[in-house]
Amino acid sequence: MRHLLSTADLTREEAVELLDTAEAMAATQQREIKKLPTLRGRTVVNLFYEDSTRTRISFEAAAKRLSADVINFAAKGSSVSKGESLKDTAATLQAMGADAVVIRHPASGAPHRLAAAGWTRGAVLNAGDGTHEHPTQALLDAFTLRRHLRDGAGDLAGARVAIVGDVLHSRVARSNVHLLDTLGAHVTLVAPPTLLPVGVEAWPCATSFALDDVLPDVDAVMMLRVQAERMNAAFFPSEREYSRRYGLDARRLRALPGHAVVLHPGPMNRGLEISADAADSTRAVILEQVTNGVAVRMAALYLLLTGGEEAA
Ligand code: CP
Repeated sequence: MRHLLSTADLTREEAVELLDTAEAMAATQQREIKKLPTLRGRTVVNLFYEDSTRTRISFEAAAKRLSADVINFAAKGSSVSKGESLKDTAATLQAMGADAVVIRHPASGAPHRLAAAGWTRGAVLNAGDGTHEHPTQALLDAFTLRRHLRDGAGDLAGARVAIVGDVLHSRVARSNVHLLDTLGAHVTLVAPPTLLPVGVEAWPCATSFALDDVLPDVDAVMMLRVQAERMNAAFFPSEREYSRRYGLDARRLRALPGHAVVLHPGPMNRGLEISADAADSTRAVILEQVTNGVAVRMAALYLLLTGGEEAA
């Protein structure tokens, strides 16, 4: 693996290796070994053209816990506002010696372009590109599911996962559908017809418009953020109607099987796609997802930068 651009590129073996390596990284953190020397002397650049809390901080924490040097670049306040292109920004960062570039960009395909055009010699990790993919989010979701449903080992064969809400704008949904399918899980996308993408019939999953029909038969339900910043009002019912038909609330929590868990990638719109009591319930593993994100990103940086050949 040279780059991590899309979960659609991962084989089952590569995905399980990433999850197993993340378990090993998490174990080091639990033993209070806060810092590993593995990436000493390497430089990781966080190149963020879109806002982020979880992903940016998590990649920074992951790189630092592997002893890498970290350069944080936010487009806001940089020469991007003067018209500098991605190519020239990447060349500038390369001149400072980037071994890995973690990129979030509003344009779908920007990380692929960075990698394919050779604008950086470093490994490229996609931290979310437009409405396309968010592979490390899907990996941390799979890691969290594997811990709850499979004791943290192997794949997710046979697990039933509903992904609910604004699928149209969700890079999290697309990355999860590909990864969960590769790991053997059965995914059902639940959304209003206007919030399912064109061509979804070709995705390796089922679709439904009726959340109440799906909930009693799942092992996990993943609520998606309604992306107001990308939304065309014509696609969206009123907030009240959306919540009534597609929101997870206390009544719908009770419809889930006893063992089922609730995920959300964050940030949440409390009261819209998820009620406060659902978000804060004992079934919600939302903060575990955040914690697990650091171990998963440590694993991704470690495998990409060392090929798994240096001791972690
Ligand atoms: N889940 C996620 O990508 O969150 P941030 O936008 O805060 O990084």
